[in-house]
Order: sequence, then structure tokens, then C-alpha cells
Amino acid sequence: MSPIGPATVPSSYSGEFKPHFHVFDSRETLGQACANCIIEEIQKNKQVVLGLATGSTPLPVYKALVKAFNRGGLDLSEVTTFNLDEYVGLDPRDKQSYHYYMKEKLFKNLMWSEDNPLGIKTENIHIPNGQATKFQHLSFEEQNALKKQFPLRGDESTLSSLESNWIICRRAEAYDRLINQCGPIDIQILGIGENGHLAFCEPGSSHEGRTSLVELTANTRAVNGRFFHDRNVPTQAISMGIGTILQARKIYLLATGERKQEILKKTLYGKVCEEIPATALKKHSEVIFFLDIEANPDKRKL
Ligand code: PGA
Repeated sequence: MSPIGPATVPSSYSGEFKPHFHVFDSRETLGQACANCIIEEIQKNKQVVLGLATGSTPLPVYKALVKAFNRGGLDLSEVTTFNLDEYVGLDPRDKQSYHYYMKEKLFKNLMWSEDNPLGIKTENIHIPNGQATKFQHLSFEEQNALKKQFPLRGDESTLSSLESNWIICRRAEAYDRLINQCGPIDIQILGIGENGHLAFCEPGSSHEGRTSLVELTANTRAVNGRFFHDRNVPTQAISMGIGTILQARKIYLLATGERKQEILKKTLYGKVCEEIPATALKKHSEVIFFLDIEANPDKRKL
């Protein structure tokens, strides 16, 4: 089914917020359409900067991108990517880490090499680094900075939570600086949490927030627990802030499944408020919603 939209803008929208809606009959058609928009942008500008998301919603987009790349002709060698977030405390090789997800679901199929000169280059891929449990996890520069900041620390290999938090906050600031240097992000892909979170910006997050260390809510940990089986879900993450996200030129908000319908309704028809982080999107002038039939809160558009 071809997308339905751009749809009319409900009268409750005000100011700059003029979202476009594309509604699809399946996750696959949604993924293909979103990937096509990204490919079009890459074809216009080889140096495009993409903001990428994890979770189950963007998977069909990544599948379609890999398929297009394998067909040949898509040049990713100058594309830069920034991921939204990462858990604190997980090894990048941990199967639940977002580093692992991105490698498995996307990057391993697209990597640059001498035999694959149109692939994406490692140095252009950016994912927040949440691993700071041990001294040896830190870069040489970070080790020196830590010793300077905590002059009384001995040579313990395990970082205290104070030390670990300090390192993560420092990395978060550096991540934001890097986005400013390479950016702005041309297209930011976003999922939406059932509680309205964007990235790991939980209810109550400031709409001006920058990349930072965040505490995960019980709701998010419970929802994400489905991937962790018998293990504890991390309690913290490093996440782009809403202010950082809103700097992107264009935002693609993706949502599929009935469980997203309620929060989309609140986001689209409610007031802008910090309790529902996704309402911050109403402050952005170029948001495109890619929805499937079940997530679509406005059945009249079908
Ligand atoms: P999901 O997660 O794509 O797995 O539903 C979205 C989110 O929590 O932002």
C-alpha cells in the first residue's frame, strides 16, 4: 500500500508544527518507504549525517537499507551516523547493548573495506559509550582525567559509581560537541516509548536537555526487560537530550503496533509538556510520522 498522506493538519496544532503522516499497512512497507526517503537524501548529499535509533520499530528500515546497499550503487562512504543512546555498564559486545544491535542489524552489512569501497567507515559511526565500570574501559586520556579529578583514588580497577558517573557525564558532553562539529543531523530517526519517551529521555526530561547520563524509569526497564531474560536491566543510560534531538533538520518518528496508539494520541492532540517527552516534537517544524495502521491514532485518515 502506498503511503496515505501528507494528511491534513488537525486544527489543534499550532505554530510551526505541521507534521506529515504516512500510514502503512505493514511494518515492511513502512520500513521500505522510510529507507527510500533516507536513500534519496544520501543521493542528494553524500555527506549526510543520520541520527539512528534502536528498538524493534526501526528494524524493517535497516533491513531495507541493507537490501538497497547490496543491490549496489548506494554510496555510504561519506555518511556519518550518530546513535541516540546506550545503556550504562554493558560491554559493547554484550548482546543487549546498542553497540551490538547496531552492528548486527545494520553496520556489519555495510562496512567500508578495500573490497567494499562504498561502505560506511568505522570512524564515521558514533554510538555513545556507556562502558565505564573498570579503569581499563577508559581511554588513556580518560584515565588521566579521572586521576586528576579524584587525586586520592588508589589503583583500584573498579570505578566507584561517583567515578563512573563522572566519566559518563564527560563523554555525554563530548558527544554533544561532536554532533555540533559534524552536524546538524540531517535526518533523525526516532521510535517512541509507551510512556512517550524519546531515546532514553524519560517523562519529566527538559525539552532543552543535552546528551547526558539518565536514570531509567521502572516502566522503561520493565518494557525492555523482555530482551534481558534472567538478567537485570541496567538502571542508567547515556542518551541524547531532547534539545539535541530537536536540532536535527528533519525528524522521522516511527511507530508500529496498537500499543503505541494511545501515546501517539496524547502526543498529537495534547499540550506540549515535559511529562510526555514526545510532545516536544511539536516545537520542530519538520517532523514526519511513519505509522502503521495499528499505531495510527486517527482512524479517519484511512
Ligand atoms: P520499540 O522501542 O521500537 O522497541 O518499541 C521504542 C522506544 O522505546 O523508543
